[in-house]
Amino acid sequence: MIMDINQYVSQVKETASWILAHTSLRPKIGIVLGTGLGHLAEEIEVVDAFPYNDIPNFPISTVEGHSGRLLFGHLGGKDVMALEGRFHYYEGYTMQQVTFPERVMAELGMKYFFVSNAAGGTNADFRIGDLMLITDHINMMPEHPLHGPNYPGGDRFPDMSEAYDKHLLDLARQIAAEKNVRVVEGTYLGTQGPTFETPKEYHMFHILGGDAVGMSTVPEVIVARHAGMKVFGISVITDLGVEGKIVEVSHEEVQKAANAVQPIMADIFREVIRRID
Ligand code: HPA
Repeated sequence: MIMDINQYVSQVKETASWILAHTSLRPKIGIVLGTGLGHLAEEIEVVDAFPYNDIPNFPISTVEGHSGRLLFGHLGGKDVMALEGRFHYYEGYTMQQVTFPERVMAELGMKYFFVSNAAGGTNADFRIGDLMLITDHINMMPEHPLHGPNYPGGDRFPDMSEAYDKHLLDLARQIAAEKNVRVVEGTYLGTQGPTFETPKEYHMFHILGGDAVGMSTVPEVIVARHAGMKVFGISVITDLGVEGKIVEVSHEEVQKAANAVQPIMADIFREVIRRID
């Protein structure tokens, strides 16, 4: 169901005004923390924190491992806004609800969008616990986040030739090399979930060009690009959808695997943020 665009825009503006009235920070960097990746939140010197249910018009997140708070604080010498917990399409939200926070970010003047997620690796070179710099994505979600009347300000037919900013990727490569941490790179394929993939589905997604598959991120990135933000993303490879390496996977295991490497991911995020002009 698509909500009337004018009503949706009013809600975004109302939420942004409420936030502006409740924090004195004016960040240019917005962050979304994925499953089991809340650790970065602990590295943020938090100035203001708002539970989602205190924020007008904000959807409420339902999944375990997503605490649902909007944070304002300092990270890497910059002001940041961070979402601890996201909204997934599989939870039953509309795409407009899923991407509501990114619309609010844009309304608040964010120029950069940093996103993290847990994903299953379909690339045979990947290992559990790898950090994958997202270089591109494939949208396999059943509904497009820009379906319907065009949101004011963005192109009707947005360019996606560089969805993930090359300069930010270069910074991340440099940082990983300096810190001597292993990172891999690849394409994130976004699917609706909530089932994990069958072996043949992992295989199909790999043939299609996906190196990792997950249930989020793509709609958020599309909206962030539509709104003109520069995007940087990391997937934590929490399980492998590679023939011969496929084992049973559960949400708990995904969280555990994500948990183990999140300090390294947090380091990369913080240092990329520090080096943004
Ligand atoms: N598939 C889809 N989503 C996921 C996976 C996966 O294997 N792992 C973590 N999120």
